[in-house]
Amino acid sequence: MTPAMDEFTLLRAIHVASVVHWIGGVWFVTFVVLPAVRRFAEPARRVAFFEEVEGRFAFQARLSTLAAGISGFWLTWRMEAFDRFLDPGRFWFMHAMVALWAIFTLVLFVLEPLLLHRWFSARAARDPEGTMALVLRLHRVLSSAALVTVAGAVLGAHGGL
Ligand code: HEM
Repeated sequence: MTPAMDEFTLLRAIHVASVVHWIGGVWFVTFVVLPAVRRFAEPARRVAFFEEVEGRFAFQARLSTLAAGISGFWLTWRMEAFDRFLDPGRFWFMHAMVALWAIFTLVLFVLEPLLLHRWFSARAARDPEGTMALVLRLHRVLSSAALVTVAGAVLGAHGGL
């Protein structure tokens, strides 16, 4: 490794690449796939198509969420920056990153496999229209929070806050 290409730089690259893959994928599903699916004729087909797309992405998102979390905590440790969590006013972007990561980790690794998948199928069978509207709303909230977090993290990491 060249002097500039130290472990810290490599960690940062892994962190940003993981975040781009994961958040970019969520954004695409939210603002491209879901609105397109809503135009499908029969509500039942919308649900089946959404499950197919989201299921494929969920597998990949588990990997990038894991890589973002490991590299994120490693960076924090390498920078000796854990005390940032004691100052949320100045370092809110650190809290935002961890909060977002925790929500996705819970959903992708615990709730989805254990509960959400069954809940979604049962609710969608009863009320496909309402279920898709709810799913879209939740996706919009999380995608928007993620974009704000990305902007905040870059500003925070480069002295912009
Ligand atoms: C376990 C969760 C996470 C931890 C512990 C963590 C930690 C960190 C740390 C320590 C930095 C370097 C900050 C600095 O140089 O001052 C960083 C940078 C960054 N993080 Fe995270 N992060 C996590 C999750 C996330 C998530 C979920 C996102 C996206 C929504 C994200 C996006 C970014 C971005 C864009 C940067 C800026 C990189 C740069 O411009 O150099 N991180 N993160």
